Parts: sequence; structure tokens; C-alpha cells
Amino acid sequence: MCGIVGYVGDKESAPILVSGLKKLEYRGYDSAGVAVVNRNTLNVVRATGKLKNLENRVSQEVPKGTIGIGHTRWATHGRPSDENAHPHSYKGVAVVHNGIIENHLALKEELRAKGHIFSSETDTEVFAHLISDELERGVDLVEAVRLAIKQVKGTYALAVVTASDPNRIVATKDSSPMVLGLGQGQNFVASDVPALLEHTRDFVYMEEGDLAVVTAQSIDIYNRQGQKVNRPTRRIDWTPMMAEKGGHKHFMHKEIWEQPRAVADTLRGRMLLSEGDIHFEGWNLSPEKVRSLSKVTILACGTSWHSGVAGKHMIETLARIPVEVELASEFRYRDPIVDGTHLAIAISQSGETADTLAAFKEAKARGATSMAICNVIGSAMTREAEFSVLTNAGPEIGVASTKAFTTQLVALYMLAVKLGRMRGTLTVKQAQEHLTHLTEIPKMIEDVLKCENSVKRVAREFMTAQDFLFLGRGPMHPVALEGALKLKEISYIHAEGYAGGEMKHGPIALIDEKMPVVVIAPKQPHVAYEKIIGNIEEVRARGGKVIAIIDEDDEHVASLADHVVRIPPACALLAPVVATIPLQLLAYHVAEMRGNDVDQPRNLAKSVTVE
Ligand code: AGP
Repeated sequence: MCGIVGYVGDKESAPILVSGLKKLEYRGYDSAGVAVVNRNTLNVVRATGKLKNLENRVSQEVPKGTIGIGHTRWATHGRPSDENAHPHSYKGVAVVHNGIIENHLALKEELRAKGHIFSSETDTEVFAHLISDELERGVDLVEAVRLAIKQVKGTYALAVVTASDPNRIVATKDSSPMVLGLGQGQNFVASDVPALLEHTRDFVYMEEGDLAVVTAQSIDIYNRQGQKVNRPTRRIDWTPMMAEKGGHKHFMHKEIWEQPRAVADTLRGRMLLSEGDIHFEGWNLSPEKVRSLSKVTILACGTSWHSGVAGKHMIETLARIPVEVELASEFRYRDPIVDGTHLAIAISQSGETADTLAAFKEAKARGATSMAICNVIGSAMTREAEFSVLTNAGPEIGVASTKAFTTQLVALYMLAVKLGRMRGTLTVKQAQEHLTHLTEIPKMIEDVLKCENSVKRVAREFMTAQDFLFLGRGPMHPVALEGALKLKEISYIHAEGYAGGEMKHGPIALIDEKMPVVVIAPKQPHVAYEKIIGNIEEVRARGGKVIAIIDEDDEHVASLADHVVRIPPACALLAPVVATIPLQLLAYHVAEMRGNDVDQPRNLAKSVTVE
């Protein structure tokens, strides 16, 4: 996610802001900037690319002033560029923002009608215009921010300074983190603790809807109702490295636990519940075009390929279009059969995977319509695609993909609903039911994360195993593949994922008392559930150890397995989102117990930009 830093005190703010932003670099970004107020003058300096570029600009003409705000941007709306970098400013008001304004287009239209001219493609710039409008009406900065927030739908951590009120930073948040740092004769705001640890260990975590007025001498906090409130001051004793991981030992663990928020951010603003439909910004397929599609070809590698396999079940079930899920590295060397009635979907966290990009270009060259499901706006694949659906998971630092996978799954499910509605294979009512299932997923992920201690017990028992087998059927087959990949890539234990029905065609020869077998066995779809129980019996009959991922209320399979991890029951096509979480945790804890470098496992790169 983006990074925010703000300072007000008795020192020059620019160096403090840049230094704080550098502590947030790990979060990933593509541009940065600072806004400094000196007497009644606002000075904004921004630069695309690495922070070094901003540092160079700031050093050429250090913006003077003891109050300012800074930002590192992870682009969600509008490509990485100087114009789209934060802070955004308008008529002496400067803002930095983490989050998404869902109604930014409507607000921009209203503001343009009043003569406002926008200089960026971003949603954030709207805040500067709204606040400036309110100030021109004569209210003070605090009231102006409050009135602006009331017009916005979405999520935000927002910090504001203005030339006309040079002693105060106003900060407010809803669904995106913001902390206040307490100093002597100086105070701070930031999106995350690491930015401020060199200055203070005393922090106040703002709560949803809070608004803070920060001066060099004081911090006043008001709740959503405008009442002054006291929030507890917390002493943070983390090391800077621990702080970057939010107190988690590894980025991967942090990212596993971020999944409720990541999935919620991926769904946000896209589910039209009353209409039973999906809104994808930039969608450019007409109903006629969608109805003329004869095939969807998914192109991906690794974990992204696994989400494609799950997506096949979703799209074929809800939209009744044949889907082929192609290993990108194989697709392009096979003289593939592609034509103008095909939709090619590249799935990629990084948007830079060489094999996927090459296959994607090949499919386009042969006439396919092109779409990307990607986590990085401005990446090669989003530039290559006719349109993209962003997964909004925020930067994924750990090499082993976790939140990218689950956000890809919900993006594919939304796509399946949209295609189904456009092809008439889903009624409004049916689509509304599917969307209702989607809204329940973030909470289900939160619930399933509570299984971590039972997963740790399993990890401890099997951390020295030489081999693992993962079995799943139907929508759980890609979950078995993903569980095996997670385990092998960070624990270095040989692990295979298999369709349960394939057991008797070979893998069963592997089963003995040394072989732990993870069986993913939610009750839905029922036919797969009944069959996977047969697999469990086959494994037990040969002395294999069964670790079963089962619904909370399933006592039958619990009586058959050596270990169980219970998950909340989800509808069949969304069950992969929930069932994968215990497997991510299993891989993480086995690797951690084996003393491996979980975030940077041997031989692997986060983005495979070479073939
Ligand atoms: C997944 O944990 C691995 N890091 C790897 O398989 C990854 O999914 C694959 O390289 C594809 O990367 P992408 O999603 O960025 O295209």
C-alpha cells in the first residue's frame, strides 16, 4: 500500500518527510512527493520512480518550512507519473491519501461543472478540490476536511496541509491505517509506524472515522460524530525491521493475515448488489461481443495458473463459456489455435512474468480480445491488455504468493458473474445470490485465520517429512496444487498436488506411514466430497497420515483423519478462497520451523522476468 508521513514542529520538515518515506519503501511504490508550507506558501515536489529521484529534486531546491506531508504512491487509479504522484494540491491545499474513492468520477464531474480543472488521473486529487471549495466558503480547515469527507464514498487515510493555515496538519482515516507520533515540540502522522521510529516510540492509533488536528504542541482527536475523544498512547518497542512487518516475523505472514482487507479492497466498489451485476472500471466488452465469445483462454504461471484453474470452474459454471487454462510457458510454443471469438486473460501478480507476457502477446497477435487480472497498475501486462481488472491486494513482498492468489480468485468470481449476466446464463436474482456469497468472504477469511494454532501443531509433527501429497477434487483440485506449491517453494520439502480421482492411477503407490496426505474436503460440491472420502479411506488403508481440511461441522471426516483443520462452509466455487488459507499457514510454519528464509526462499525470484 502507499505510504504517508507528516511533520509539524521546529525543524525543517522536508528531510524528515523524505527520511520517513524511505522507511516505508518496503511497501512498494512507483512515485513519491512532499508538500511543505512556509509561512503562507505551499511548495510541492514530486518524482516518479524511486525515492532517490525525489531526493535529488528536493536537494536541488530544499522546500523550506517546518510543516509538511509526504507520500509514496502504489498506483491504483492513474498510471505512475509525476502528475499522478501525491501530494495533490489545488489553490493552496495539499493532500496525501491511501485508499480508494469509489465515487471520484461523479465528484470530478460535479467539480468540473463548477469550473474546477484537474491535473491528474487520480481519485485522490478530488480531496484537494473539495477541501479548497469548502475553505472558499469560509469554514476553517478542520470543518473543510470534515465536509469534504462526507461527500466521499470509499476508503481513506488522508493528511492535509494548507498555505492559509500553516500550523496545522489535519488527518483522518476510514479503513486505511493512520498513526500519530508524539514528540517534544513536534508531532507526526504516518500510515505506518516504521516511518517515525527514529523520532518517537509513542504512538496513537487512530480509529475508524477519527479526525486529528496536529500542531507542534498538541494533538486533538475527534470521532465521526465530531466529539473530542482520547485514544490510548502506545509505546512501540519494535525494531525498525519488525515494524516494517507490522510486528509479524515475515512479510509472508503479514500478507497471509492481510487477506481479509486485500479481498475487501478487491471487491470494493465493484459489486452492484441491487442490480445483480459487477462494475469493472475500463470494461470495454459489449454484450454482443461477450455473447459471441467461443472460448476463454487463461494464460498464467505458478500460483496465478492455479487461480486460473479455479477460475475455469467459476466461468464455465456461471457463464457457460468453455475455458482453457494454459501454462503460459507451453502455450506460445504450440502454434495455438486462437481467433477473434476468444478472450485471452493473463493472470499475474507482478504483471511482468516473461512467459505470461509473451503468451499474452501471442494470443493477441492471433486475434484474441485481451484482458489482464493483475496486482500492479502500469505493469507490462496492464499496458498490453485492452483492459485490466486490478486485484488491489497492495504490494506482495513475500516471494510465496498468498494475498495475490485469494484476490485473483474473487476477481475471477466477479468476472464469472459479469459474463454470466451479459450472456443471460445468470438471472438478476441468481447473480444477487452470488454477490451475497462474495460479501461474506472477508469475514470467512478472518474466521479461518483463527485455525493458525491447530495448523502449527500439524506443522510441528510433519516438519521433517520428506514428501507430502495434497489431494482435492473439483474446485478443490487447484487448492491442492496451490498447497503443494506453497509448501515446496518455502520449506523445500517435495510436495505434489493431485486431483483425488488420479490417486489410483499412480500416486497411491507412494502412500506409506511416512507420507502425510493433506486432503481438502469441504462438503460442497457434494459429489466431490463423497469421492474424496474414498481417497481418505484408501490412504488410511495403507498407513498414510491424513490431514483433512474440513467444514466446521463435519464430524464424519474428523473421525477418519489423523489431524483436522476446520474452516467455515462456503459455496462450492468460493470455497477455494477459504480452504487455501490453512495451506498457506501450513507451508509458512513448516518453513519457519525448518529455519528457512521464508520471504526470500532459495533459487526463487518474486517476479520471473526471464523465460
Ligand atoms: C507463487 O508463490 C510463486 N512465487 C510463483 O509461482 C508465481 O506465482 C509465478 O512466478 C507467477 O508470478 P506472477 O503472478 O507475478 O505472474
